Amino acid sequence: MTTAPLDSTKLVIEKTTNPKEVLPKEKLAFGKSFTDHMLEVEWTAQSGWGTPKLSPYHNFSLDPATCVFHYSFELFEGMKAYRDKDGKIRTFRSDKNMERMNGSAARASLPTFDGEEFMKIIDKLLLADERFVPEGYGYSLYLRPTLIGTTPALGVAAPDKALLYVIASPVGPYFAEGFKPVSLEATDYAVRAWPGGVGAFKLGANYVSCIQPQSEAAKRGHSQNLWLFGEEGYITEVGAMNVFFVFQNADGKKELVTPPLDGTILPGVTRDSTLTLAREKLNSNEWIVSERPLTIYEVKERALKGELVEAFGTGTAAVVSPIKNIEHRGEAIEVPVEDGKAGAFTKQISEWIRSIQYGEEDFKNWSRVAK
Ligand code: COI
Repeated sequence: MTTAPLDSTKLVIEKTTNPKEVLPKEKLAFGKSFTDHMLEVEWTAQSGWGTPKLSPYHNFSLDPATCVFHYSFELFEGMKAYRDKDGKIRTFRSDKNMERMNGSAARASLPTFDGEEFMKIIDKLLLADERFVPEGYGYSLYLRPTLIGTTPALGVAAPDKALLYVIASPVGPYFAEGFKPVSLEATDYAVRAWPGGVGAFKLGANYVSCIQPQSEAAKRGHSQNLWLFGEEGYITEVGAMNVFFVFQNADGKKELVTPPLDGTILPGVTRDSTLTLAREKLNSNEWIVSERPLTIYEVKERALKGELVEAFGTGTAAVVSPIKNIEHRGEAIEVPVEDGKAGAFTKQISEWIRSIQYGEEDFKNWSRVAK
């Protein structure tokens, strides 16, 4: 039996009759206010993808036995839409988000779909809620594509019903610090992900286990925790970001380092963009760009020798966030920050990414105009 593919041409649109107030930029708190509309597409194993709907933002009514509530059949993406200088709405490398979402869906026994068809529907949401896309660098409309299993049964099995939906939230900076450098606490009493596990997939369940160590870190004044792995103290990632370090090597070259994608690390779109831009734009006589294992002890030792130059996190929500210090087992690793702001490379990479996101530079077709 053939089942229906996701088809953007079938989109049914019902506009709100009760438009919300658009908040001023200074009142935007990450993910707390939402736009007028949302998207939904139901799936059943029997028929495939149903009619996509764009309708006023609303609650769901789900049976308490629904499998998402019991076995975490849930995965999501984080994407952003930006307003360019001509007022057009743009998304950034959405093909990467679609690819990752389908990878997560396959791993979670949820249905996959045609990413380009889904993006065509998302474009319609962006046009319907266009007035919520804020203007200005650092401001955007955060999109949260989500896929849940909706079979109302307690048997532990692949869902035969699912719901793909998208909500959107106008946002400014992710951290309370605004765009200023953040402080991290290295966690080695718990592990975020294990080789062969699901750490490389964007499953909601991966984030649940992060909250307790993150709250512990917050009690001691840190914004996020830095996950370590194993006795050796391998650096993996931060709760909501991938992590990068810049070292000044003895031969005078600088090295940009991030841990490799070994299955325990989320393959971030901003991570990939940082590596691609660094490899294309930095002078290779002066820079080495490395995806290699590194430990907290290397970072500590090189900070003491004055070889640690910069550290920053990357993520869709966090964009490029400078790091000012990392506390590990009661000792602080200080990262040099210029006048309490980001270092030179951190600033440079933020600007390169920003100019593509806001449509000022065309680079490898990474920016897509919603139409
Ligand atoms: C993102 O950067 O979009 C994330 O998913 C991180 C977090 C807000 C869950």
